[in-house]
Amino acid sequence: MTDTLPRPLRLDVFTQVPHAFGWLTEQKPVATVLGTELELRLFNYRQTTPLKAGQVDDEPYGGGAGMVLRVDVVAAALDAAYGSDRPARVIALTPQGRQLDQALVEELAREPAITLLSSRFEGFDERIVEHLSTDAISIGPYVLSGGELPAMILVDAIARRLPGALAEGSGEAESFSSELEGGLEYPHYTRPASFRDWSVPSVLLSGDHARIAEWRRGQSRRRSVL
Ligand SMILES: C[S@@+](CC[C@H](N)C(=O)[O-])C[C@H]1O[C@@H](n2cnc3c(N)ncnc32)[C@H](O)[C@@H]1O
Repeated sequence: MTDTLPRPLRLDVFTQVPHAFGWLTEQKPVATVLGTELELRLFNYRQTTPLKAGQVDDEPYGGGAGMVLRVDVVAAALDAAYGSDRPARVIALTPQGRQLDQALVEELAREPAITLLSSRFEGFDERIVEHLSTDAISIGPYVLSGGELPAMILVDAIARRLPGALAEGSGEAESFSSELEGGLEYPHYTRPASFRDWSVPSVLLSGDHARIAEWRRGQSRRRSVL
């Protein structure tokens, strides 16, 4: 966990749909760390757009379907939020970015401040990615309709790496953690010990903590081999 860094981590999300984040901020672990380890701010491009009637996007040059988020709109939103004091990490959320994994989540959780830019429809004017962003992240090789879900995925994944976000110990031996050598977590079981003819592995009922730890390590390794 990341407990010796300047806190709170300030996470700013630029979006056309700020109300989409209402649910996320009420859920653990985000709710647990909000106001202490995490500061989450939502910015609506429409409120700072220099264009009339809240316009934020436009037709693509060269023709084709869909609308493209305008570079002047995003620049105005960043200027209004930061002036000339731009944050060190401004991330465009796009399927064309670096693919998110746990190592990248850990890297982001160590940052003092992160800005996430989301788009909708056809995506960003490329100058937003090239000149207004420091990097670009994809949450996976598929296309969603907007950057709000990707932003929420990042907020949740980062929040659970902040001190106090999870119950003691529950974030240590998770899938992809160094505790599990970057592999997958072992299986879990709870009551009843026997259901239909499906029984819980007897080692877990043995009370022998050394054997249980060894069994779990073995299961984790087995699952992690492709
Ligand atoms: C419909 S997508 C645009 C897709 C774009 N035209 C393309 O083919 O790469 C609209 C917006 O949703 C967000 N988005 C969609 N899929 C994403 C993904 N896998 N990772 C990150 N953001 C994504 C981005 O902000 C993107 O600009």
